Amino acid sequence: MTILVTGGAGYIGSHTCVELLQKGCEVVIADNFSNSSRDVPARIARIAGKQPQVCELDVADCQALEQIFAAQHIDAVIHFAGLKAVGESCQIPLRYYRNNLDTTLTLLETMERHGCAKLVFSSSATVYGPKNEIPYVEGMDTSATSPYGWTKVMIEQILRDYCAVNPDFSAVLLRYFNPIGAHESGLLGDDPNGIPNNLMPYIVRVAAGRLPNLTVFGGDYPTRDGTCLRDYLHVVDLAKGHLCALDYAQTHTGAEAFNLGTGDSVSVLELVRSFQRVNGVSVPYVIGGRRDGDLAEFYANPARARDELHWTAEKSVDDMCRDAWHFIQTRLSEA
Ligand code: NAD
Ligand code: UFG
Repeated sequence: MTILVTGGAGYIGSHTCVELLQKGCEVVIADNFSNSSRDVPARIARIAGKQPQVCELDVADCQALEQIFAAQHIDAVIHFAGLKAVGESCQIPLRYYRNNLDTTLTLLETMERHGCAKLVFSSSATVYGPKNEIPYVEGMDTSATSPYGWTKVMIEQILRDYCAVNPDFSAVLLRYFNPIGAHESGLLGDDPNGIPNNLMPYIVRVAAGRLPNLTVFGGDYPTRDGTCLRDYLHVVDLAKGHLCALDYAQTHTGAEAFNLGTGDSVSVLELVRSFQRVNGVSVPYVIGGRRDGDLAEFYANPARARDELHWTAEKSVDDMCRDAWHFIQTRLSEA
């Protein structure tokens, strides 16, 4: 099988490429490196013992994408490419709509021209919006609270509409909860430029002395310790979920959504304490005000992925903390 992985140099994409290569797939990465480093494909190859093909392009560039499909038979596509920062999407909404929607539309049109009918799409738990009960179940209504979230809601709808009139097409919509952690080799992980928006990259930089302290956004939520609860899952478990989704697409058509989460919820302070205990380091923090748009608690009902994709998250919060720390240490020792 030859799999086109858009955004394959990014955080989740790179871990997925490793799993695909290790399973014997040919991998073609299409990435413009707008949020990833050009040395990632070599790191993927070091872990997997096999080289991915790398095409540097904007996935919204119709001609460049056409060349990939013209040069080889693509059996399926995993579509990670997109912009993903919730806060930034509120500041520059047009860039988010343009990038996330254009990449998807160009990709679908190119796939159609070449008879490629299997797509796995990176959706998000954010599509459950602010009003659903927890745990989230796939049949719930979707909504959003940010332009980023709306791009995911809209792309899911585009894929449902497309599948409705293309009965041979399979679109697997994977709704990720909160992926954290890194590859156990220390070679791949979440390495955002600038000051991180997300919790785990922030924690590791504080522990490494790169940032003075963590600000916990809100200590007065109606939760067991007053801080927000999330369903954190290990990025390698998440990567494996994409292989399960590709298997599913071999025998199913239509647009089908699956939650990829553990079904457990962990608070901000619980994650900080686990990180300190597992790694024997200190993470100084202060309790600050709430961050706009944060929900007190959400987590997955992962039953559908378990029953139909035959996927279950296996790694623990301790694994996530250990691997995230190992990655940043490897990164700093290379610098
Ligand atoms: P990431 O930013 O690390 O990876 C995305 C990759 O896509 C990057 O390598 C970037 O350079 C590339 N890219 C962006 N726009 C492109 C374009 N127009 N053409 C070519 N390449 C482009 O992000 P990630 O954390 O790996 O997330 C991957 C996908 O999963 C995204 O669609 C994101 O919205 C979704 N997702 C992520 C999370 C999370 O917590 N990380 C949660 C839910 C959903
Ligand atoms: N947090 C802090 N301090 C920080 C950063 C985060 O206290 O410096 C808290 C947040 O308030 C939240 C929790 O840590 O309570 C997790 O925050 P993240 O930013 O790591 O993750 P979110 O749950 O806000 O959102 C993430 C992705 C979204 C995605 C969502 C569901 O960023 O794109 O998970 O998948 F939609």
